[in-house]
Amino acid sequence: MSSHYVLPTKVPTIVFPGSGDAARHLALMIDSLIRQNSSAGRATVLGLPTGSTPVGLYRELIRLHREAGLDFSRVVTFNLDEYYPMRPDDPHSYRFWMQETFFNHINVPPRNTHVPDGTIRAEDAEEYCQGYEEKIGRAGGIDLQVLGIGRTGHIGFNEPGSARHSRTRLVTLDPVTRRDAAGSFFGEENVPHQALTMGVGTILEARKVVLLAFGEHKAPIVRRAIEGPIGDAVPASYLQQHPDATFLLDRAAATGRAGGVSPLI
Ligand code: GLP
Repeated sequence: MSSHYVLPTKVPTIVFPGSGDAARHLALMIDSLIRQNSSAGRATVLGLPTGSTPVGLYRELIRLHREAGLDFSRVVTFNLDEYYPMRPDDPHSYRFWMQETFFNHINVPPRNTHVPDGTIRAEDAEEYCQGYEEKIGRAGGIDLQVLGIGRTGHIGFNEPGSARHSRTRLVTLDPVTRRDAAGSFFGEENVPHQALTMGVGTILEARKVVLLAFGEHKAPIVRRAIEGPIGDAVPASYLQQHPDATFLLDRAAATGRAGGVSPLI
């Protein structure tokens, strides 16, 4: 087992030698949560992110399903966000990405997986988003919400300016976020300007939150989220107010460079 250390920061933070170590750690947490709930006859409700960061986590969970019998038949999932407008069968959609990266490789019942629907009419967005929240409520609330973080400090697509009590809604993407997504859309001009996202308030209602951040490009925003002032300039900073939030970092995201002394300490 690799060595890792805990930083005395405002949000408990565990630093791993590499992103694979962090992904394995979280996969094992999810594994034991699902097994505990299943043996008590309960479903497990997971809040899930997209992006490059959670790829290793999904790969590890698939491995646990195949090699260690991890059973997803009683798991219910809610994804954080989806581009808008966006068809679910569009290869750029988060629904398509989730199917390819995770859902198609495990035994989660398709009806248990929820990704915001990017095909709704804009005038129906409010009602649709309220319905998404109600579905989370009917499922019993989110047991574990997994997050990545954007360079703007966004969680889901809650860009700077998102309020602490914001709910699932249609939002406008920050230019930095659209630039960061340009690669996968073959040009910034093809990146949608809007998205549907769970709100900060929705995310903070999860019973447990784990944020993954890897790479030195994430170090400055991670530092602001963990130690900076709490407020809408860095929506991830609201996690400082969550009773059970943890950041899992690789060394580069904690130090700003692969190796050196952490500026977080
Ligand atoms: C997108 C997603 C976020 C994600 C972020 C970071 O904006 N909506 O949920 O955390 O990208 O992406 P990456 O993990 O590729 O750095």
